[in-house]
Amino acid sequence: MKVYVTPSAKHLAKSTGKIEFGRFTDGEVKVIVKDKPSKAVLIGSTYPPADNLIELALALDALKRICKVKVIIPYFAYGRADKKHPGKPTSAALVSRLFKGNIITIDTHSIRLKNFLRYEDVKPYKLFIPYLPKSNIVVVAPDKGAYRRGKILSKMLGCKSVHMIKKRLPGTVKVRLTGNVKGKTAIIVDDIIAGGGTLAAAAGKLKKAGAEKVIAVVTHAFFAKDALKKLRIVDKILVSDSIPIKKKTRNVKVISLRPFICELIRNS
Ligand code: R5P
Repeated sequence: MKVYVTPSAKHLAKSTGKIEFGRFTDGEVKVIVKDKPSKAVLIGSTYPPADNLIELALALDALKRICKVKVIIPYFAYGRADKKHPGKPTSAALVSRLFKGNIITIDTHSIRLKNFLRYEDVKPYKLFIPYLPKSNIVVVAPDKGAYRRGKILSKMLGCKSVHMIKKRLPGTVKVRLTGNVKGKTAIIVDDIIAGGGTLAAAAGKLKKAGAEKVIAVVTHAFFAKDALKKLRIVDKILVSDSIPIKKKTRNVKVISLRPFICELIRNS
């Protein structure tokens, strides 16, 4: 079995197969697989720029013509636009059409993606556990979408979980807490930090409700715009490097997904 890694995931695994990514003279993405394995694992994410998405889709197409392929997608971008809204694309459905086959994703936004794509989703939370306190803790899901994540992480930590009801208003995020966090270390779990509004609002609410400390466990992080500034209120932010982290502050700890990806490859 050979492993093929697109440039978007080169920090997470090493290709053992021969694959080249380049550009044609007109700028189009060029992919060439230079060997003929009997089985392949392809690893790549689809976060911006869009070339990452094209490289992964083209590499999959090239490999599928030669052998059986398992695809590991550390971050499945465009997965959040999974509902129908007039005048807006259902990006999750469109992008899913490029990825038919044996697919493993890491902490996708919502199981609604299953409406468009067949895949197995795995959570990388065991990587975060060594960095979390073991007692006087409560797991917090910052919105309805994170409810299942909260249940999974709280089971792993052997503690209770509570959740929040979130409302996005123009330029701001409002949350309402259901449950008691007083005197505890609250561990917020979410799939992604984009602009940081969700996490900042959740942390503010938890501190007001008497949480002693707020820690966040988030699989994918962009820290877009002034997110890091907004997130100073969070005592510790644990994120993976599914998307390479280009900037961070002292409260951010980046945990490499590499061992987790290695394990997925070994089990292929
Ligand atoms: C929303 O449903 C997601 O799970 C995240 O909470 C959200 O996308 C994070 O975005 P932001 O950091 O911009 O609030």
